[in-house]
Amino acid sequence: MNKFLNKKKIILIIGGGIAAYKSLDLIRLLKKYQCEIKVVLTESGKKFVTPLSIASLSKNKVYQNIFDSNQEAEMDHITLSRWCDIILFAPITANSIAKLASGKADDLASTLILASNKQVMLVPAMNVRMWLHKSTQSNVNKLRDFGYLSIGPASGEMACGEYGEGRMLSPEEICEYVKNYFFERNVVKNKNLTALVTAGPTKEYIDPVRFITNNSSGKQGYEIANSLAKFGVKTTLISGPSILKKPENVDIIRVETAKQMYEETAKVLPVDIAVCVAAVTDFKPDRYEDKKIKKKNININLNRNIDILDFLSKRNFQRPKLVVGFAAETNNVLKFAKEKKIRKYCDWIVANDVSNPEIGFDSDYNAVSIIYDNKVEKIERNLKSFIANKIAKKIINHFIY
Ligand code: CTP
Repeated sequence: MNKFLNKKKIILIIGGGIAAYKSLDLIRLLKKYQCEIKVVLTESGKKFVTPLSIASLSKNKVYQNIFDSNQEAEMDHITLSRWCDIILFAPITANSIAKLASGKADDLASTLILASNKQVMLVPAMNVRMWLHKSTQSNVNKLRDFGYLSIGPASGEMACGEYGEGRMLSPEEICEYVKNYFFERNVVKNKNLTALVTAGPTKEYIDPVRFITNNSSGKQGYEIANSLAKFGVKTTLISGPSILKKPENVDIIRVETAKQMYEETAKVLPVDIAVCVAAVTDFKPDRYEDKKIKKKNININLNRNIDILDFLSKRNFQRPKLVVGFAAETNNVLKFAKEKKIRKYCDWIVANDVSNPEIGFDSDYNAVSIIYDNKVEKIERNLKSFIANKIAKKIINHFIY
């Protein structure tokens, strides 16, 4: 028995595909770990496994049709989606992935997911060409951006005789993943982990209508706050001006200037984790004109702003246990980032190349290197939400192991 899976309520959606037979074993394994399982079988899933075998293994009735009046009366798609701890879609086909990405709700599985507020985990299984097709990849990315987790697929020989990426993971691997998911959240809950994330630019006013600022959309910082909150970390986001929506379950403090960001940061302490993603404007005008300056040649003297990351890292009292900085560089990225890490005394620094227009700033994509101890861990170009999830997972693991 595994205490992290014990009594967990799982909805398993079995889609069409030869790999559906593995899901029978998955039910058996999850039952062995004392999970309670309700299975939804899609129309195409029915071509590969029978409701009878599923019912015998899951010890529950099998949900098949959204318009089945008996089932609807007993547990409709809303009740079903609220009942569970997670929804596991295994195997999921390219077609179902496309359907979920477009928000269609034309059967019980898709309606249930659209109506759900629970973690959705997808376990794809399909031919290698279908998996690598641009449309499938862009749909999967879209679903990751919605916060769905994608488990696998693995590489290997396929039922169709071809070889490559697209095989459904084994029931044991899926179980391990689900177990880890609950384990990590359990640790975060028991440790009551707290975090602060700074994000976005700051504005330093010259007069009531003019200001100097840094280029930053705030996307990467918002995604990191969102990912930490999803792991169960009590997260406060201190954001400079940004049009982005507040992530769910995150406390947000909106500020404009570096001084305000610094003051709000100091108020949020103590926290376990600090992630400074903000593109804080390094300079501010040495004086502020409270009336609009009329058009003429002017000279502005700039003074340095306080460095928030430096302030957090070098504290003797209430220093966060883990301080993560970002290094936005245009050249010599790793070298400058490593120097910045030493200079600012932070534990990790995440380096990104802001000269590349395909990533950084306004893009939804990023590519970063996490520098910690004497190691460098690269995360290749991907959605900022994906990168955020990787960074958050690494942070959580730091507190677990
Ligand atoms: N940072 C901060 N407060 C500042 C300036 C930067 O907290 N006043 C933080 C950023 O949030 C980031 C890290 O310091 O985590 C590095 O920011 P970056 O802009 O890359 O470097 P700077 O310190 O501004 O140095 P430079 O502009 O010379 O590269």
